[in-house]
Amino acid sequence: MKILVTGGGGYIGAVLCERFLEAGHEVRVLDRLYWGRKPLEHLAGRIQIVQADVRTFDASLLDGIQAVVHLAGLSNDPTAEYKPDANWEMNAVATARLAALCRERGISRFTFGSSASIYDGLGDGEFDETAQVKPRGAYSQSKFEAERKLLEAADGRFAPVILRQGTVYGYSPRMRFDLVVNTFIKDALIRGKLFLHGGGWMWRPLVDVRDVAEAHLRCIEAPAGSLSGEIFNVVHDNFQIRQLAMLVAGSLSLRGKSVGLEDAPLPPINRNYRCANRKLRDRLGFAPRVTVLESIEGILRRLPADNVTDLAHPRYYNIQWMTLLEEVQTSLNGFSSVWSAT
Ligand SMILES: NC(=O)c1ccc[n+]([C@@H]2O[C@H](COP(=O)([O-])OP(=O)(O)OC[C@H]3O[C@@H](n4cnc5c(N)ncnc54)[C@H](O)[C@@H]3O)[C@@H](O)[C@H]2O)c1
Repeated sequence: MKILVTGGGGYIGAVLCERFLEAGHEVRVLDRLYWGRKPLEHLAGRIQIVQADVRTFDASLLDGIQAVVHLAGLSNDPTAEYKPDANWEMNAVATARLAALCRERGISRFTFGSSASIYDGLGDGEFDETAQVKPRGAYSQSKFEAERKLLEAADGRFAPVILRQGTVYGYSPRMRFDLVVNTFIKDALIRGKLFLHGGGWMWRPLVDVRDVAEAHLRCIEAPAGSLSGEIFNVVHDNFQIRQLAMLVAGSLSLRGKSVGLEDAPLPPINRNYRCANRKLRDRLGFAPRVTVLESIEGILRRLPADNVTDLAHPRYYNIQWMTLLEEVQTSLNGFSSVWSAT
């Protein structure tokens, strides 16, 4: 199949595009390329890359496309809270437009990278895909609205599948160190110390980046229309943050590096939620399998042992990178902003 991957130049996208190629598909990436082309350079010559904004792209980019994996947009709380209007346009409005364009063209296979953070705020308990959610933050509200628009558009010509991805861990050619496990690895290496905000008792559902790619692939390859309108949590397991800190500290200690754990105050955005992972296994026959420990080892193997301070570079932190890009762009152009649609 010829697949359009929006946001294909991002943390998940860079791994997902490679997996889709391995599976024999053709890939066209539509991405604003906030992180440039480097994350996809290992796939040079094997994929088509189009630099465009998901809010305004020319519909002809869908010509010849048989399936869409939709990952583009702001991808965490801090960026969404910083620019709530841009976040709403990118995550909610642009998703509705993309759905309408796919439906018009009869591109029925479609997966959406939604977020398990939609379950935040429901209180104690492990929630499945049928839970009545009440998302609280700008990011999860926009993801939920995008889900609603996709489900509204579903019919015989358009069969969206929603994947509520847990917080992702693992190595990607477009590395993010603003995701909890990855952040702990970076802090352990640079500072030798991990901070447990509020004691680290909060729960999070987690999943490896390769398993996220695999879940999208399985849904895209499922018999046409068989999963239309389905929602799946894509989660390996739920963890308390302090468990994750202990797994990272333990892994480093096996490599001879001692890592301290310290209490720290709660941050202003504090999320705490758990969700079930049974439906993906029962309905799709796929259970995320890469453990946190395996993933930590995988990341450590790939990091440069001689220059760990590079891990603190702003490009690995979405909010730092986006605000830096904006600063540079506005000082060069005087008016246009990295968050705007053009
Ligand atoms: N990483 C996680 O833990 C996680 C968890 C749940 C859901 N998600 C969702 O999965 C998707 C991918 O996440 P990620 O971690 O790869 O994020 P990322 O920030 O690394 O990648 C997002 C990509 O989208 C592109 N992009 C952003 N705005 C765009 C726009 N307006 N037009 C075109 N391209 C645009 C960026 O250039 C980037 O390449 C996002 O939708 C995110 O909300 C991620």
